[in-house]
Amino acid sequence: MSEDGETARVWCDGCYDMVHFGHANSLRQAKAMGKYLVVGVHTDEEITMHKGPPVFNEQERYRMVRAIKWVDEVVEGAPYVTTLETLDKYDCDFCVHGDDITMTADGTDTYHIVKNAGRYKECKRTQGVSTTNLVGRMLMLSKEHLQRGDREYAVDRRCSQDMSSDPSTKSPWTGVSQFLPTTSKILQFSNRTEPKKTDKVVYVAGAFDLFHIGHLDFLEKAKELGTYLIVGLHTDPVVNRYKGFNYPIMNIHERTLSVLAYRCVDEVVIGAPYAVTKEMMDHFNVAVVCHGQTPVSEDLGGTDPYAEPKQQGKFVTVDSGNTLTTEILVERILARRFDYEERNRKKEAKEAAAYEAFVKSKQEQS
Ligand code: CTP
Ligand code: C5P
Repeated sequence: MSEDGETARVWCDGCYDMVHFGHANSLRQAKAMGKYLVVGVHTDEEITMHKGPPVFNEQERYRMVRAIKWVDEVVEGAPYVTTLETLDKYDCDFCVHGDDITMTADGTDTYHIVKNAGRYKECKRTQGVSTTNLVGRMLMLSKEHLQRGDREYAVDRRCSQDMSSDPSTKSPWTGVSQFLPTTSKILQFSNRTEPKKTDKVVYVAGAFDLFHIGHLDFLEKAKELGTYLIVGLHTDPVVNRYKGFNYPIMNIHERTLSVLAYRCVDEVVIGAPYAVTKEMMDHFNVAVVCHGQTPVSEDLGGTDPYAEPKQQGKFVTVDSGNTLTTEILVERILARRFDYEERNRKKEAKEAAAYEAFVKSKQEQS
């Protein structure tokens, strides 16, 4: 074991359900506190018991966390309450968690043991994103959009709301605030490397909304076709034009960070043109352009957005071997909406109660 931040082995654990850039940002911060990052991921059974059913199964969650660029090792089926035995077993010096509170089903702080032993450090939780919040956005997608047919209303709410329908259950951690994208956050996520002359550049473009395991499978396959992978993200209005309803669920800043968190991605174009042009291919010296097996929507005027790379003989259709799409994911959740609404309400109420108790104890101390 080492006390030295330069050589420390750091432990993180969690559910990492619907892995989002908030999780990735916590892992980024944790890795910066040491040299080697081990991440423990809980089983479906444990999550169901303490929190409610996860959206992704454990095999999917293990794979997603393993693909995040700051993660050195994943421990499958890590216990819900972090113990000193677990830290010792994986030779970790301390555990890192966000500055929110995590509780078991009976309301115990899951980090009380490592906190008492002085082997606990905190990183800053990323405001405005959580699994709870994302599920809330999806639930709202059906409710607000279908009932009111008012896209602006839902988009505004998405950016500034708490997702709870009952204000009395408002939590100071998962129920509030908005994500504020900054250039420094993008820099922190970026590899800051340009393609080398010898690199074979692969370009893909899409929405990559609610980044999921289907996207990861696709990107990893695309990366195998070259050595440097550029992901072009379409702007929110463009995605909305071809996906309709209230898509995208995550805005372009959020989607940028989500994609940048993965090891296989080298660069992101924030707001890529819908049609892949000659200028763009020349600019990035693109050797291969890929799309998965999902349908390609026409560009305005009915043209094929991949006409140019096809004409150059550089277009490849990739079989990701995964049929999950953002729409299927949202459907999966909406089919169980009452379970998730109940889960969100309970989680916020539990956190609000813990926060109230915390404030009360502080007042009593002073
Ligand atoms: N985390 C974070 N910022 C967020 C969300 C999560 O820093 N916006 C951190 C948590 O503090 C924790 C780790 O990510 O250190 C794993 O969190 P997890 O157990 O998956 O729970 P949450 O994502 O916090 O749960 P939920 O999204 O359901 O609120
Ligand atoms: O739908 P979206 O624009 O997010 O998809 C981005 C890219 O990922 C597309 O090329 C799509 O075909 C691909 N994809 C895939 N397999 C999946 C989901 C998406 O190949 N399961």
